[in-house]
Amino acid sequence: MCGIIGYVGEKECTPILIEGLRKLEYRGYDSAGVAVLETDSQGTRTQVIRCRGKLSNLENLLRKDQPSGLVGIGHTRWATHGRPSDENAHPHKAGQVSVIHNGIIENHLSLRNQLRADGRVFSSETDTEIIAHLIDEELKKSGGDNLREAVRRALKQVRGAYAICVLAESAPDQIIAAKNASPLVLGLGDGENFIASDVPAILAHTRKMLFLEEGEIADVRKTGIEVCDLEGKRIERAPKEITWSAVSAEKEGYKHFMFKEIHEQARAVTDTLRGRLSVESADAFLDDVDLAVADTKKITIVACGTSWHAGLVGKFLIEQLSRIPVEVDLASEYRYREPIIGKGDLLLSISQSGETADTLAAVKEARQKGARTICIANVVDSSIPRASHASLYTHAGPEIGVASTKAFTTQLAALTLVAIHLGRRTGHLSEAKASELIKELLLIPSKMSDIVGLAPQIQVIARRYGQARDFLFLGRGNNYPIALEGALKLKEISYIHAEGYPSGEMKHGPIALIDVHMPVVVLAPKGPGYDKVMSNLAEVKAREGKIIAVATRGDKDIGTVADEAILIPDAPSFLQPLLTVLPLQLLAYYVADFKGTDIDQPRNLAKSVTVE
Ligand code: F6R
Repeated sequence: MCGIIGYVGEKECTPILIEGLRKLEYRGYDSAGVAVLETDSQGTRTQVIRCRGKLSNLENLLRKDQPSGLVGIGHTRWATHGRPSDENAHPHKAGQVSVIHNGIIENHLSLRNQLRADGRVFSSETDTEIIAHLIDEELKKSGGDNLREAVRRALKQVRGAYAICVLAESAPDQIIAAKNASPLVLGLGDGENFIASDVPAILAHTRKMLFLEEGEIADVRKTGIEVCDLEGKRIERAPKEITWSAVSAEKEGYKHFMFKEIHEQARAVTDTLRGRLSVESADAFLDDVDLAVADTKKITIVACGTSWHAGLVGKFLIEQLSRIPVEVDLASEYRYREPIIGKGDLLLSISQSGETADTLAAVKEARQKGARTICIANVVDSSIPRASHASLYTHAGPEIGVASTKAFTTQLAALTLVAIHLGRRTGHLSEAKASELIKELLLIPSKMSDIVGLAPQIQVIARRYGQARDFLFLGRGNNYPIALEGALKLKEISYIHAEGYPSGEMKHGPIALIDVHMPVVVLAPKGPGYDKVMSNLAEVKAREGKIIAVATRGDKDIGTVADEAILIPDAPSFLQPLLTVLPLQLLAYYVADFKGTDIDQPRNLAKSVTVE
């Protein structure tokens, strides 16, 4: 989720790059940098200036030493491979080639080894530097005069997601841009052209934009742009006129960041699974994270809020697939009850921000008592990863809306990877079952996109029930944490009182609340426990409660009891939480939108809670 900008034209490019990066800082802010081609009578040199931290740090450096040139690229980073540091900041230079990149290269380890064997020396931990070396190598092979061709050949060796901009000293008038599964847009100007990861970065200069598609390469010069595919075949496509305002462009046309982030979930989950699953070997790989499975007797999950809900789903997954016992604790409670944990135990913390004070304190406590501490986090090198033995990162990208959405589903995806990994190693998950589950997991992102398409129906339901004073959310098994999450989302952004309950517990108390004024949201996908949930629904119906059901497409019975049925694609029960939560996020969003609350910054809440 890094920000990218490129300029080629007749103006000094550094101020244009910095202005663009300022508009992109919301995409990532752990380091920033620029590379500018400086050309004079002696030839062309690349000036690369980059540093860790916010864009203001880079601006301070540039005040002392501003590169001067008409062709340049700029980057603001959200770390995925390699912690935030000066060395890992983009652009990365290899030989005469400089590269900025947004995305994740799946085969980075094998490419790095191969390049090392060829004598290449690396100065960063990033997957991006590999691309720079590959292109420099190809450029050398071809005599150095065809940058576009060198990029094309290099990209043929790369697997994964990328949006890149490439400069070379032997090609002082051009930038080569390429895209696969990460966004990239070209802005067409008069005697100048622009490249950006997002429209807002270049909207002040042009509204004529050409969106690159998967596997396309653009040769960008001040006089024009040529696009071809990875086979070198020319592609002709007319640019579009963008009519968005600057503010709505930042949200890519969505009304709120939360709504944009709900829509980003298919992409975020794909990125989190990318390169970590193999159907052939029926296994899940956790980067370099060693769970020390043979020594692990018990796992304790600690987290807060939405991340705690992910932990509850994680317990279900890990216990079922690996048979290792799992406890789930609220981090804010954990260390005040003298937790029983020590050598041979694994503490798995979950945190989007990596900064939540309660979770951090729990990690420190467990580590001090001798437990192995692993975290699932979104923000690379934040406090919790730094305090842990190892970290498995979700690749959700920056989450701006205070109410967590894509961070939650990527946490579920990461926990599924952990559960498969453990299950294969404890021997409880057979090869056949693992490979079946992995195949189904890889189908989840497209099913998520399908569910987001139900937004108009959910908007109508939100209007119909959004005046209620209270809501009840019910779910069973691994959908019980989703009921809790649905209730939390509604409370946070619409300020309506809501409670999540295991459906089977309803008759032990909450049933007293049910009357004609109480909407009851029930998670009732097909699977184990479905019949029991249907009986619970009959109990609600008998008390005139209004039932909003999230059920499986094709379910003929649900319509006979539910007042509203949101029908979603089928999935194995292990994976259902990745889908059932989406309608609840949308319901909360539309109720809040209808009420006119401040959705992205709800009252009294903060994105990362750094006080205990
Ligand atoms: C809810 C929400 C919070 C966070 C909680 C933990 O939408 O965002 O409940 O989940 O504050 O935050 P992290 O995951 O950053 O530790």
